[in-house]
Amino acid sequence: MQNFTYQNTTKIVFGKGKEEDVGEYTAKHGSKVLLHYGGGSIKKYGTYDKVIESLEAAGVEYVELGGVEPNPKLSLVQEGIELAKEESVDFILAVGGGSVIDSAKAIAVGYFYDGDVWDFYYGDAEITEALPVGVVLTIPAAGSESSTSSVVTKLDGMYKRSIDSKLIRPKFAIMNPEITFTLPNYQTACGAVDIMAHIMERYFTNTDNVEYTDRLSEASLKTIINNTPKVLENNEDYAARAEIMWVGSNAHNGLLGTGREEDWSSHGMEHELSGIYDVAHGAGLAVVFPAWMNYVYQHDLERFAQFAHRVWDVDPDFKDLEWTARQGIKKTKEFFSQIGMPVTLKELDIPAKRLEEMAEKATENGPIGSFVELDTEDVLTIYNNALE
Ligand code: NZQ
Ligand code: ZN
Repeated sequence: MQNFTYQNTTKIVFGKGKEEDVGEYTAKHGSKVLLHYGGGSIKKYGTYDKVIESLEAAGVEYVELGGVEPNPKLSLVQEGIELAKEESVDFILAVGGGSVIDSAKAIAVGYFYDGDVWDFYYGDAEITEALPVGVVLTIPAAGSESSTSSVVTKLDGMYKRSIDSKLIRPKFAIMNPEITFTLPNYQTACGAVDIMAHIMERYFTNTDNVEYTDRLSEASLKTIINNTPKVLENNEDYAARAEIMWVGSNAHNGLLGTGREEDWSSHGMEHELSGIYDVAHGAGLAVVFPAWMNYVYQHDLERFAQFAHRVWDVDPDFKDLEWTARQGIKKTKEFFSQIGMPVTLKELDIPAKRLEEMAEKATENGPIGSFVELDTEDVLTIYNNALE
């Protein structure tokens, strides 16, 4: 195990009706809030009204900016920064999923910066200050509600890039599984894949002696695998929704990566897909992750066989190590298909013509990944292998 420092400062407020207390939690951090949300689901399903009522009851003033699209765009972030400055807000409340939260985090860092906020995403400036952000989560997926990162897309050049800073970890995250009852099955499944990917990006590591976080990861994966089919069958299965929502945060708050090297090349390759083709992040990962696994598994057959045995209950004594390892990959891919996710680029309607450009962009700062380092050629091969 490697040395590490771990501090997760997001207060988690979990359970039925908890969004009705958002005013109280917000008032601890700010008195004038930018309320940020997406394309309308919160209005359609009543969360908006509850949040407004709670803010008003707590005497918190607010201005609002809706319209965040999935794969959030820089242009709305820039609009949000202008509005936040004009109105001198002192807190940002994100009500939504990863896209809304990431857009809120971007506004939070842009607020104190005179240049273009994209400088942070392109590595041209360092984050030294940010407005505090709070969250009412409506979809378990990205884990942004307690993560230190934000991912934004700049349409000019189709760049999807991220920042990482402890200054943007949300102050609180309110999570009521009931709010997720209204999710379309496709979004639920995308969320499940993203959560699994956050765990697997950390699980496939070269660091030895990480049994505790291995076992936490395996339990987390199994919980998603057991509960996702249940909520796809019955959208209002509170118990199963609650399990998924809680795993979603723990999958990406840093705990499962403590003491180990993490990989993240599948996320890097996926961001090029959703950056150019605007596909849902989870759907892109369902295609890229198994293709990555097939490309690298021979690097550590034992780790892949352990994954197959402990996560997918493959009998390790049935055949040899390589067979066991391959079964785990096969079962991962089958599960993604079973919950309605695409597993090939063809199913996502992504043709071969821009794969080279994507491979170059994914590796523009050098090789990606750490389990196995991937250069441009490797990435291109993985994209090609994912075609059909
Ligand atoms: O916009 P509205 O109308 O709210 O609809 C949304 C959106 O269309 C809908 N939705 C959300 N909650 C709902 C609901 N529909 C019905 N009922 C509800 N309760 O779901 C759609 C997708 O929302 P989005 O926020 O885009 O989903 P997700 O949470 O998967 O976020 C994806 C974004 O997060 C980034 C991804 O790259 C992508 O841009 N990520 C952020 C990370 C982070 N900051 O730590 C890490 C991740 O790896 C990921 O990259
Ligand atoms: Zn992700």
